[in-house]
Amino acid sequence: MKALKQTSSTGMNRREFALAATATALAALPLNGLAATKDEHGGPVIITTWDFGPGANDVGWPVLQSGGLAIDAVEAAINHVELLPDEFYVGFGGVPNEIGETTLDAMMMWGPTHDVGAVGCLKRIKRAVSVARKVMEETQHSLLVGDDATRFAVRMGFEETSLTNLRSQKFWEAWVAKNKESSAWDPEPIGEQRPLEGHDTVGTMAVDAQGNIGVGCSTNGRNFKLPGRVGDSPIAGAGAYCDNEVGAAVATGNGDVMMRFLPTYHTIELMRAGATPAEATQAAIKRITDKGYSFDGGLVALARNGEHGASKQGWENNKFRYAVRNGSGSQHILVKP
Ligand code: GLY
Repeated sequence: MKALKQTSSTGMNRREFALAATATALAALPLNGLAATKDEHGGPVIITTWDFGPGANDVGWPVLQSGGLAIDAVEAAINHVELLPDEFYVGFGGVPNEIGETTLDAMMMWGPTHDVGAVGCLKRIKRAVSVARKVMEETQHSLLVGDDATRFAVRMGFEETSLTNLRSQKFWEAWVAKNKESSAWDPEPIGEQRPLEGHDTVGTMAVDAQGNIGVGCSTNGRNFKLPGRVGDSPIAGAGAYCDNEVGAAVATGNGDVMMRFLPTYHTIELMRAGATPAEATQAAIKRITDKGYSFDGGLVALARNGEHGASKQGWENNKFRYAVRNGSGSQHILVKP
């Protein structure tokens, strides 16, 4: 296995190289802790989408508080949601596809190196975001899909197991009794509100005490999707994006529409140009609605300085929240239209 890992000219694999790069950056900081302006940041802080956000942040926050890396906090927070048996839209027990199988999309991105790892349509493995991290750290690739992603996960030591539980099986059986095929076959309702199709993606982003930024997301995508469908979550710039000099952004909602616009990349570039997280997310959503789409979706962004904001389209007004945990405590923020 070791021979297959990416090695740099230093002989290090991607994980070792990323950690060494971080250590080098830390060593360059003045010993009295007064960093140069570009090293100022608002960490530690962790943000997670939706109503599982507070619980996820409670798992990720201690990692940051004890001086751990943002990427470790993000992975721990997302794993927590992936393993919740009653969470319908992420990980184990998630809503199945048209033929009754739950498949997962996930991604991780590491700000200091701009490294990405992702899996699409991953089958029979519970912690999709951890498999994405293995793609990032153990290979030269950025995205693995389908049964081959499962084979990669097994090779990395993950257990192959069913993602179906009683609840998701019954939900699918009830759907099959009433429906012949996925609504993905329907004509695209441009200009009309799509029926609610799930899409409660977990997206987590963090700035650690050293100012490193990490981001990740994980989902089983759209309810009763076509077999083989991959959504926005494992696509860098669509489901999530970060840049250590700017911040991070995550997307949730109708990935089939949102991935056409790379809205998290758009958000980060607007922030780089001076927009606040709230302004940037609003403008990135407006880019989509200006093309005539009335989708359900949301964007949340975290600036390197700790400022955060979000925007949403569709969904009823008391539905979409995100959770923030930093040195001042916890917040669960309703995103207003
Ligand atoms: N945003 C989740 C999905 O549509 O796949």
